[in-house]
Amino acid sequence: MNGEERVKRIAVLTSGGDAPGMNAAIRAVVRKGIYHGLEIYGIKRGFSGLINRDLFQMKLGSVADIIHRGGTILHTARSPEFLTVEGRQKARNFLLEEKIEGVVVIGGDGSFKGANALEEEGIATAGVPATIDNDIPLTDYTIGFDTAVNTVTDAINKVRDTATSHERIFVIEVMGRSSGQLALFAGLAGGAESIIVPEDPIDVEEVCNRLLRGIKRGKLHSVILVAEGAGGGLYVGEEIKRVIRMDVRVIILGHLQRGGTPTAFDRILASRMGAKAIDLLLERKSGRAVVCRNGCIDSVAYEELLSRKKLSWDDYHLAEILAR
Ligand code: F6P
Repeated sequence: MNGEERVKRIAVLTSGGDAPGMNAAIRAVVRKGIYHGLEIYGIKRGFSGLINRDLFQMKLGSVADIIHRGGTILHTARSPEFLTVEGRQKARNFLLEEKIEGVVVIGGDGSFKGANALEEEGIATAGVPATIDNDIPLTDYTIGFDTAVNTVTDAINKVRDTATSHERIFVIEVMGRSSGQLALFAGLAGGAESIIVPEDPIDVEEVCNRLLRGIKRGKLHSVILVAEGAGGGLYVGEEIKRVIRMDVRVIILGHLQRGGTPTAFDRILASRMGAKAIDLLLERKSGRAVVCRNGCIDSVAYEELLSRKKLSWDDYHLAEILAR
């Protein structure tokens, strides 16, 4: 590639639900980009920032002191206007006027759809997967997932203390949209007695039988983890009460799962993925998302991400065996 052809101005945005580690990814994009002599611009509030022309140049110091912070310094939003043809054209015209030659989109599957739409408008993009749901196929992990797993595990530990003291059954609802990844990993780490995921249609009878088997052998407390996409905690709690007529408490962890300081794992993943996004744009390999497979950072075309991410059934069955 000669000097004339080099990409010079790159923008970065975060979109969709925030995830711990997004800031570490922004930092990597900015610093790796500047290292290669690029000008890096931040866009505020995701795709709506493209429509509202919310752009500012980022320097090395713009990303100082953020690697350990949850959330996103660029803010995030879901943009209904960007879903319209007019909205996308406004975004495209703005980027062309500002001579932005590539956009790094940090977010989940909805954000990648947005990135793909920009590609269709002729704008080069690179996607960095960041969502606590870990529901993007072809990558073992998304940024933020590990932190959320730790947050939920910590909640399970705390709930287990009181569950043991009061000899109670607790149902904990976790996020994940239509994916059971977060419930499965946190359930495995926290030793949940049952894990209910959307990928395996709910069987309250089986959950109750398991509870009764536990009670029979003297187990007087239980923690049941329910993914929000699997019917929700309130429903499962009511069903258990109805079937086994015991006292059940339900906790919905909600948005606290999206916050907190990112784990070392997420910071490292974000640093590597953010840097890879810059490499992709420099190599003019646009329309691709960064992935992490078997510990290696790679990339795949957006079209390859259309299938649903598979749950690890081995881990699911292992959790069942270990909770007996
Ligand atoms: O995608 C991340 C996520 O936290 C999901 O787990 C959850 O279903 C959703 O976002 C909640 O979205 P909102 O913040 O718009 O309520």
